[in-house]
Amino acid sequence: MRSVLKGRDFLTLMDFTREEIEYVIDVSLEFKMLYGVRAPHEYLRGRVIGLLFEKPSTRTRVSFMAAAAHLGAIPIQLNPNVMQVARGEPIKDTARVLDRYLDALVIRTFGQEIVEEYAEWMERPVINALTDLTHPMQGLADLMTIWEFKGRGRRIKIGYVGDIWNVCHSLMIISSIFGYEMYIARPKGYDADKRVLDFVDEMSRRSGANIVFTEDLEEAFKDADVVYANTWHSMGGPEAEKDKRLRDWAGYQANEEDTKVAKEDFIFMHCLPGYRGEEMTDAIIEGPHSVVFHQAENRMHTEKAVLALVVP
Ligand code: CP
Ligand code: NVA
Repeated sequence: MRSVLKGRDFLTLMDFTREEIEYVIDVSLEFKMLYGVRAPHEYLRGRVIGLLFEKPSTRTRVSFMAAAAHLGAIPIQLNPNVMQVARGEPIKDTARVLDRYLDALVIRTFGQEIVEEYAEWMERPVINALTDLTHPMQGLADLMTIWEFKGRGRRIKIGYVGDIWNVCHSLMIISSIFGYEMYIARPKGYDADKRVLDFVDEMSRRSGANIVFTEDLEEAFKDADVVYANTWHSMGGPEAEKDKRLRDWAGYQANEEDTKVAKEDFIFMHCLPGYRGEEMTDAIIEGPHSVVFHQAENRMHTEKAVLALVVP
């Protein structure tokens, strides 16, 4: 597949223009259609895609493997615990070696600087499958889902509740690029990363987006087109302070009662995995507004588009 994005790393959506992101979503929609009619789309026959995951994953791991397989590529899982990086081999050596074997490397890890270091030492594309800072693949699937259910080119209000971490950051980035309103409900003391805030401030000035932090759940959900929930205790650092977070975040929940102020036809989204009884209720995820499994499916279509567009 010819593409202007060939060879590009996919480390954060902050590196891409609005037009480039629209291009990825258009190709994702095309792939979804091809998949629906079981039409072959093997644009990467014979390529090898490495998957290095240092945190648990169901959706990202399996959807990338399926996407690679549909494209005719071979996905290989790299277990970091049995690689020499676990014994202290420098990333710059590991990266240059993997670059000789793979056509792309998909990484889930902790610091954003880790994916950046791999990218610095590899010629082949490096794709961020979640860091503490961002989750660009989730952001793409979220945007695709919003377009499918709420239309593109509209001003959308998102009422978000949950950890101010990778998923929230990527949704803030998307919202700022596409001129959305995003209200983030959270208890005092939980704030976004400065790198994301600086980007979002600058981008919002140009796009007319409005990104607001509030302690008031009702303000966040009022007239929302999209209610988005995410865990209170993400993998890594936040998970280690789970008990404190369960206390601090109590009540910051998407439930049937508190979402009554949202638009009548609002959609409920969640990146998953979700915790019923914490950031959301069983009734809302299983209810008529929920599109969470469409959203999860879209992970595969958007990742397929990214692979087809960036892998040389
Ligand atoms: N949403 C998401 O990235 O899920 P996994 O952690 O299962 O990959
Ligand atoms: N914010 C969550 C997302 C999981 C897909 C985490 O990092 O654990």
